[in-house]
Amino acid sequence: MTLLIQNGEIVSDGQRYRADILVKGETITQIGEQLSAPADARVIDASGKYIFPGFIDPHVHIHLPFMGTFAKDTHTTGSIAALMGGTTTYIEMLAPAGSERLSAGWKTWTDLAEGKSACDYSFHIGVTRWDKTTEATLRKLVAQGMKSFKVFLAYKGAFGIDDNALYQVCKLAAELGVIVTAHCENADLVSQLQQKLLAEGKTGSEWHEPSRPEGVEAEGTAHFATFIEMTGARGYVVHLSNARSLEAALEAKERGVDLAVEVVIPHLLLDKTYAEREGVEGAKYVMSPPLRDRGNHRALWEALERGQIDTVATDHCPFDVAQKHMGDDDFTKIPNGIPAIEDRANLLYTYGVSRSRLSLERFVDAVSTRAAQLFGLYPRKGTVSVGSDADLVIYDPHYRGTISAATSHMNNDYSGFEGFELDGRPEIVTVRGEVAVENGEFVGTVGRGELLRR
Ligand code: URP
Ligand code: ZN
Ligand code: ZN
Ligand code: ZN
Repeated sequence: MTLLIQNGEIVSDGQRYRADILVKGETITQIGEQLSAPADARVIDASGKYIFPGFIDPHVHIHLPFMGTFAKDTHTTGSIAALMGGTTTYIEMLAPAGSERLSAGWKTWTDLAEGKSACDYSFHIGVTRWDKTTEATLRKLVAQGMKSFKVFLAYKGAFGIDDNALYQVCKLAAELGVIVTAHCENADLVSQLQQKLLAEGKTGSEWHEPSRPEGVEAEGTAHFATFIEMTGARGYVVHLSNARSLEAALEAKERGVDLAVEVVIPHLLLDKTYAEREGVEGAKYVMSPPLRDRGNHRALWEALERGQIDTVATDHCPFDVAQKHMGDDDFTKIPNGIPAIEDRANLLYTYGVSRSRLSLERFVDAVSTRAAQLFGLYPRKGTVSVGSDADLVIYDPHYRGTISAATSHMNNDYSGFEGFELDGRPEIVTVRGEVAVENGEFVGTVGRGELLRR
């Protein structure tokens, strides 16, 4: 297949310019003014549209055994939803729970994805315990191109690891040149505060945030940064939610710790009052770290525009309303997570670029390029450049619409962003040269998505 995309405004690598793009097979082969169309080319007119590199979501959960249940998407539903929102690559966390060993987990997770995804994907290797076999498996997986680890300082008794294991993971990562991504909340503090609140009869979803307040996350962030510093590894704080934790991360960066920071779209746009709604309406908005006081939004947006926050991900983690009811009598039993894989970039464009909080260049960087650089995908992904994969988003900034679960492609029965207005959407999305979304419809191929070795 040959594509010639004419007259669009390319936004990539901090630059904006008008040029045509020629795609042959899976690759961008030429960028220039007034390129002539080969006889076999499909010509796409992108007048009035932006052309972005395919978006990369570095934090999603597709298969997730968690809190006595499973997240609801499959790679088919998750990848179609991702593509509808312009995401052409996602990185899922592979995290064996309970007695499953990491080597068995690798088989479970890759079998679930293989032949099922319409977009490309890769894995952060979750380290949920530490022993000799874990270390041997990690070395093997890194040699096979899985160049990021994921650890949880939270979720005691489930995914969480202790400080000895954290030290070993960071030390191995430093040796192998692998980046360590971390969920930073102090698990013991969370557990103590949960027990205290429940003992006081405070069982509703409005108590989720007070059970893991900002200080608990700031402590976790500083704690993780110290381990990164002591081992000389590279670190990445996932879903940082508030100004106090941001300060902890920036302080570490200032003293030279190699630490990148991610925010997720719910923390930029929603606040804790959503989780204070009655009954299951509040449970829909329970995630960890929790939705915070709205006063944090400004600090997060400003740090994002300055590049002190590197990436915007989703932490896509869909549980339906029936699953959210599991916590009716006890907020600690509400499955944690909010779905967003389809809506991340449109929300960031609308409430960032369109509302003048974010430059177009920084938008592209945060939603695509920076993740590609941090996770070893650049310049194959994350850039509109000759030789790169032809993962392209032809974006219509004149589209107007509204988010609703009724029209979503995610496998869920509610949206955390129901009724949010959108000021743009991808009109055409390509995955390695194949048109996968056209006029807001999925037209791609399930099973075409590849496991990306980095
Ligand atoms: O609430 C959340 N974030 N659920 C998914 C698991 C995690 O912590 O990323
Ligand atoms: Zn997390
Ligand atoms: Zn600590
Ligand atoms: Zn997550």
